[in-house]
Amino acid sequence: MAWRALALIALILPLVGTACSSGPVVLTIAGSSQGQELELTLQGVERFRKRHPDISVNVRPTPANSTERLAVYRSIFENNPGSVDILQMDVVWPALMAEYALDLNDHLRDSEIEQHFPKLIANNTVDGKLVAVPWFIDLPVLYYRRDLLKKYGFAEAPQTWAELEEMAQAIQDGERQEGDVDFWGYVWQGRPYEGLTCNALEWQLSHGGGNILDDEGKPSLNNPGTAAGLYRASSWVAKISPPDIVQFDEDDAHAIWRQGKAAFMRNWTSPYSVAKQDPFLQDKVGVVTMPSGGYSSAAALGGWQLFVSRFSSYPKQAVQLVRFLTDEREQRRRAIDGSFAPTRPALYKDSEVLSSMPFLLSIDQILAEAAVRPSTELGLRYESVSQAYWKAAHDVLNGANAELRLAEAEKEIQAILQDQE
Ligand code: GLC
Repeated sequence: MAWRALALIALILPLVGTACSSGPVVLTIAGSSQGQELELTLQGVERFRKRHPDISVNVRPTPANSTERLAVYRSIFENNPGSVDILQMDVVWPALMAEYALDLNDHLRDSEIEQHFPKLIANNTVDGKLVAVPWFIDLPVLYYRRDLLKKYGFAEAPQTWAELEEMAQAIQDGERQEGDVDFWGYVWQGRPYEGLTCNALEWQLSHGGGNILDDEGKPSLNNPGTAAGLYRASSWVAKISPPDIVQFDEDDAHAIWRQGKAAFMRNWTSPYSVAKQDPFLQDKVGVVTMPSGGYSSAAALGGWQLFVSRFSSYPKQAVQLVRFLTDEREQRRRAIDGSFAPTRPALYKDSEVLSSMPFLLSIDQILAEAAVRPSTELGLRYESVSQAYWKAAHDVLNGANAELRLAEAEKEIQAILQDQE
């Protein structure tokens, strides 16, 4: 990947250089972490700068892992709040970031705000304050190797977890017999962090275990569907998935997949465009919706937004950059070049966007059906609830008794809810 590194350095240097040498206005945007995502952001920023030569922009990469990124943001706001102007915000953080953000209702026209999916605007609004502008939607998909399914006689991609297990095992056994000793059936995210909350919620929902909170807002984990989902995932560890899958995040799973060392992968949509540009994977990758556990298929709703820090010295210019990066042209480019699903309904009618992300066709439906983490209901408490949840899931992956751990997590969550009522 030397060329990628060089391309990156070539893009970063002029930006940094200009920031130091000219123009009184210097904006810093924190978020996009590495690889393709960072490259796309740098290109967007460069386009902005061509239009606004008087504004310099630094791109400050932060960890890709959402939980680690949140910790970095916290330390920024604690230690040096004026050091960033614009930040990338996870779809589950509006309540957590609200106190640091400008109210974008005061800076954007209604007609601009209305161009995004209303559900995302509602998600990003806390007590009437528009905390952030939607930038892209993340939805998980199941990646599979079309060539290997064919080689082992499977006519179609799996629709259920049981089918996935059967195929993953058969392909893994076969590939290992042919000498690929570190080939794995299925890679996903098992590290104790926000990504495990997404994976576990999908196992839970797809086995009929409901969401983390029930319709009345009470924790609802200690049930047979949730236990079945967690037991199933724990049976994959060291069997069809690497033993250290319990420390994998999205990038770890993607790294194995990119090397051609796995038959299936759960990940968000952006690895699709990476595969399309990869000489080895290019013609081999298929994408389907996540498998069902006999109940339904479930896909966690993820995604990222941009907000302006209320500590920014240049709020007007920062809003200009947010407006530019989230506009239709930029979202279109990021969809076509990077498989980042847009937050603007208009782009779901764009033939080039649709052909570059064929699985995007049913996004309206997926958005209506997506597994939504209960961040709106929980507000500031979401973080500790999610942590209690992912810790329980992680223990079960490591062999703990699911019924016991789920009962404990349910109590912990009850206490969190009562504590802060
Ligand atoms: C992706 C999603 C985000 C989620 C995170 C978990 O970045 O967009 O919503 O919280 O993954 O790892």
